[in-house]
Amino acid sequence: MARDIRFALVTGADGFIGSHLVDLLLSRGIKVRALCQYNSFNSWGWLDNVRHPGLEIVCGDVRDAAFCRHISRDVDTVFHLAALIAIPYSYVAPESYVDTNVTGTLNMCQAARDLGVERLIVTSTSEVYGTAQYVPIDEKHPRQPQSPYSATKIGADAIAKSFFNAFGLPVVIARPFNTYGPRQSARAIIPTIISQIAAGNSEIKVGDLTPTRDFNYVADTCRGFLALAEADGIEGEEINIATGTEISMADTLATIAEVMERKVEFVVDPARLRPSASEVFRLCGDNSKITALTAWRPEVSLREGISRTVKWFTDPANLARYKTDIYNR
Ligand SMILES: NC(=O)c1ccc[n+]([C@@H]2O[C@H](COP(=O)([O-])OP(=O)(O)OC[C@H]3O[C@@H](n4cnc5c(N)ncnc54)[C@H](O)[C@@H]3O)[C@@H](O)[C@H]2O)c1
Repeated sequence: MARDIRFALVTGADGFIGSHLVDLLLSRGIKVRALCQYNSFNSWGWLDNVRHPGLEIVCGDVRDAAFCRHISRDVDTVFHLAALIAIPYSYVAPESYVDTNVTGTLNMCQAARDLGVERLIVTSTSEVYGTAQYVPIDEKHPRQPQSPYSATKIGADAIAKSFFNAFGLPVVIARPFNTYGPRQSARAIIPTIISQIAAGNSEIKVGDLTPTRDFNYVADTCRGFLALAEADGIEGEEINIATGTEISMADTLATIAEVMERKVEFVVDPARLRPSASEVFRLCGDNSKITALTAWRPEVSLREGISRTVKWFTDPANLARYKTDIYNR
């Protein structure tokens, strides 16, 4: 039996994954309240041009507990995606990460508990595992806080889990592995390469090319969120969203250059290298838990996902929103 979702709150809805999730929920006839981070430009990020009768946009901040309670009223399901996510920025501003990621998640848990929300999805990340001690990485793999970002996500997951254990909060911890696709920030590896090539550069600046990743196309990640929100009886669980395949940065870049039909040279930019104890060298997720508990399966191959992402980034109107000449931290 699947849970019926009628009215959902999405935090981080102005961002990359959140905006795609809003599109998916609306396309399924679900009413959505979308939280965009308050700013004086009145920017709604990637929702700026979205108008839909089922969409209510609110602007605010997850660091404010009373505000979190205010926006959680009337909804049956909350998808909590708002977070600071860039690893390099977490090296210089870790306190902001604690405030947003840990306290923000605490606020959303408190609000969901106070208002009797039926299902809260808290967004974790494969970064909590650090460099794989074994592959594929299942949910029992040790947590390794190799960056302040990872540490705050481990903290946020623990807060969410404690609310399940202590108060029976119906929370599910969704743990996507690296996600890519249209609208992603150019600080992430796939967009940074595509946007540099699309801008006409032939010398492409990169970081370490040896680490491996398990890449999810954003539509697959969003269907994973929805599957975890709809499944009955999985409260308190932590669940990977992963393809179970592994590819090195070098091979990923070669695939992008091939899809874009461009001969380019990759040049290591020291500014893009992470301290070695902080670099996550290997990630490959075990998806047996999500595939056993739900009907979710990854549908978009890496090559197909890269083609769709290239198509989007090479539209000049989209590329114009990126600063391709600087390193986005
Ligand atoms: N992109 C990935 O590869 C990936 C992988 C695993 C997990 N995740 C998780 O998925 C979620 C979404 O990530 P994304 O890639 O879409 O990043 P993103 O930066 O595009 O989205 C995060 C959004 O959170 C919002 N936000 C930040 N601070 C806020 C605050 N104080 N109050 C309200 N909103 C705030 C931002 O405006 C932003 O739009 C995050 O929780 C991230 O940790 C991402």
